[in-house]
Amino acid sequence: MKKRFDVVVIGGGVIGCSIAYYLAKEKIDVAVLEGQQIGQKTTKAAAGMLGAHSEWDQSENFFTFARSSQLTYFHLQEELKELSGIDIELKKGGIFKLAYTELEKMQLDPLLSQTSARWYNRMEIKNQIPDIHPDIIGAAYIEDDVNVLPASVCHAFGKSAQMLGASIFEFSHVLEIQKNDEDFLIKTTNGHFIAKTVVVASGVWSNPFFKQLGIVHELIPVKGECISVRSEKAILKHTLFHKQNYIVPRNDGRLVIGATMVDNEWNENPSLGGIEVLIQKAKKMLPTIADMKIDSFWAGLRPRTLDHKPFIGIHPEDPQILFATGHFRNGILLAPATGKLIRDLILKNKVENTWIEAFKINRSSSV
Ligand code: GLY
Repeated sequence: MKKRFDVVVIGGGVIGCSIAYYLAKEKIDVAVLEGQQIGQKTTKAAAGMLGAHSEWDQSENFFTFARSSQLTYFHLQEELKELSGIDIELKKGGIFKLAYTELEKMQLDPLLSQTSARWYNRMEIKNQIPDIHPDIIGAAYIEDDVNVLPASVCHAFGKSAQMLGASIFEFSHVLEIQKNDEDFLIKTTNGHFIAKTVVVASGVWSNPFFKQLGIVHELIPVKGECISVRSEKAILKHTLFHKQNYIVPRNDGRLVIGATMVDNEWNENPSLGGIEVLIQKAKKMLPTIADMKIDSFWAGLRPRTLDHKPFIGIHPEDPQILFATGHFRNGILLAPATGKLIRDLILKNKVENTWIEAFKINRSSSV
């Protein structure tokens, strides 16, 4: 088995697999090392909203980066299907970001100044969604905030990367990264690997690598619990979103209700209290959801940085080490743009300087 690569990506979630895909497309000899199986942790737990607008916190750099990633998805769907045979199930319908009060309506103004968003009043929403809660006074509608199936995106990236020559090693938990002269020796539970360049893309499990590589940061786990339900008739074509909670319709008729935000929680099991909160929030958007049948429930750990922006960039002292982690609520959305940015940094292509500054690991707002 070959164990020497130009680039080794540590972490086989959606970010690691996207990086492998974009590098393999450029004929870079890349391998992904995943401790378990690809896409089974935070990626699998995500709802898959491509919420470039609905997750926007009014930071300009975040929006332009998120929007470019979102737009990439519209052609990725075909590209990945052709290479991997996997459908990422991009579901159109967009998002209604709901307002229950005049204050909440006013808070949507910056979003509504974008040409890609428009205001719907109560009657207009009711025409689209007859079961909507009567307390809603209106919503910002964003057609481009579609959703995808997160595990499928990850598998599609991984399989496509393999088709283009990348290697994926599952059950290869990284124990240690050592720098020896010009190369890295990466010790795993599945033997040793050698790489010229290492990319840390292990989500909230990146912390031990930060320590080994002389980075002072720690990512904070923010647990998100979700539940999915089924109904006999399709009552929702659009995603409903209010204050970090949402109901996302899937192509197979399921509705995903998400998600709690539990800071500093490493336990990946959903709690009864968390599920109870989700049900209350969902009923406040769509009361008839109470009649639906429970399909499943789960939780995942979002990796949060101090300023809630990801770390995407080069180690401050070693250009052969890169980071692509800390994507918090937006790993699925940001995966394509992250893969491309890491590719460009490795290939020394021209990159958007504002993104480098916004996401570099030694930025002042993240310490
Ligand atoms: N992207 C939504 C969430 O993290 O809950």
